[in-house]
Amino acid sequence: MSVPSAWGNPLRNDEDKRLPRIAGPSGLVIFGVTGDLARKKLLPAIYDLANRGLLPAGFTLVGYGRRDWDKQAFCEYVLQAVKAGARTDFREHVWTHLAKGIEFVSGDFDDEGFDSLSSRLAELDAERGTGGNWAYYLSVPPEFFSNICHQLERVGMANQSDNSWRRVIIEKPFGHDRESARELNEIVNAVFPEKSVFRIDHYLGKETVQNILALRFANQIFEPMWNAHYIDHVQITMAEDIGLGGRAGYYDGIGAARDVIQNHLIQLLALVAMEEPVSFQPEALQAEKLKVLRATHAVHPLNKTTARGQYAAGWQGSEYVKGLREEEGFDPNSSTETYAACTLEVNSRRWGGVPFYLRTGKRLGRRVTEIALVFKEAPHQPFSDGQTGALGQNAVVIRVQPDEGVTMRFGSKVPGSAMEVRDVNMDFAYTEAFTEESPEAYERLILDALLDESSLFPTNEEVEQSWAILDPIIKYWASAGQPEEYPAGTWGPESADKMLRRRGHTWRRP
Ligand code: BG6
Repeated sequence: MSVPSAWGNPLRNDEDKRLPRIAGPSGLVIFGVTGDLARKKLLPAIYDLANRGLLPAGFTLVGYGRRDWDKQAFCEYVLQAVKAGARTDFREHVWTHLAKGIEFVSGDFDDEGFDSLSSRLAELDAERGTGGNWAYYLSVPPEFFSNICHQLERVGMANQSDNSWRRVIIEKPFGHDRESARELNEIVNAVFPEKSVFRIDHYLGKETVQNILALRFANQIFEPMWNAHYIDHVQITMAEDIGLGGRAGYYDGIGAARDVIQNHLIQLLALVAMEEPVSFQPEALQAEKLKVLRATHAVHPLNKTTARGQYAAGWQGSEYVKGLREEEGFDPNSSTETYAACTLEVNSRRWGGVPFYLRTGKRLGRRVTEIALVFKEAPHQPFSDGQTGALGQNAVVIRVQPDEGVTMRFGSKVPGSAMEVRDVNMDFAYTEAFTEESPEAYERLILDALLDESSLFPTNEEVEQSWAILDPIIKYWASAGQPEEYPAGTWGPESADKMLRRRGHTWRRP
């Protein structure tokens, strides 16, 4: 594969958005660099950015952790991660150049290791021309945020100045409810001003998610219908076929709703339901998202409008797979949900009365994320029932992944002498329409943080508001016993189907 052309943030509001922007002098320190995320996503993304020529010449990557590694050992670790996960070709000269700026500092999250880190960064500023501009990536569980932030403050690494910047990039989970999210925000914001905090929701880094803005606001055909007059309901689906083997430490006790509904799916809802922002400046976009999130609530009664499940053993394609409770590390009585569905409503003039159904699950039929806006039926049909028996509701489907694109579903006459109307799909597929390759979400988001482009990062208020939407549902589930089992490889628990049937709807089978 060749190195695709460089790209910049499409939401940027300056003169020529087509020109790539290269990050200025800077470095990145990763805490939690031996974790899965760093190995599978962050390190390969950094190499890909370097390969695309988007990092500054003196870019410096510092790993911080307990391992007793020297530069060489860490370089070897990064190299393996890059070779296994990079999307662009491996080019020796790019790697050699990047490796010159790779360093490791050994230490704990609450000790004098931070003194060594601080002195090393000062030396690197002089050696590599990073100019005192550092981003700190907290790829660690939230219980470490406080220690890390305080240590960074103690040794002066969080100090902002007129000539240099310090930013913090934070991974989810950002709390486990609104209260804990607020506490975390207080901890982080006590050290870093909000404008220097970049909370990652990697769904916002996906090309197809950014395309929601283009689809809605660059076109005339969709927006007039994008409201309760025409839309019957909205289905937001994030289905995964993978199980949770190896992730017990993070997932048991967390569950599907906290893992992805609070962040990814509610962010998708916000982009689909928000009003047009006055510009694509971060503040304008974030203000519209916050407004719509404040108008969003769970529909009651929760025993009828939500569903949760846990996968049991079953056939995933041709493979027989374990149930969650047999997966290594999970409590054999675990009540953690691996499937979650809920009904939300947006109390606004545009959306009043339109249910937004959100669902996600592991070990489902296949991996697919999509947003389907399902239209009301036409007020009148000049056809007989027999002629429209195979006609469903019209829909616009934003196919987030893996088959990225947009589908419009509508009725069409079946060729022949009879008048029979049947559903057909009109598809736009990224792979057919564009030769350009979509950047990986983490590449875009890391580059944006280095460039101080915060449009694609949820703010503290957005995060707290998303929890406020979900909190009543999670609280209800905590008192509602075990989740319903569903066999691996199916489309989730029966209660999720019932949840929609009650309102005369059915889930799409994507
Ligand atoms: C993460 C979740 O945020 O998103 C995982 O913690 C999930 O459980 C992952 O598998 C899915 O991401 P993607 O980009 O593969 O859809």
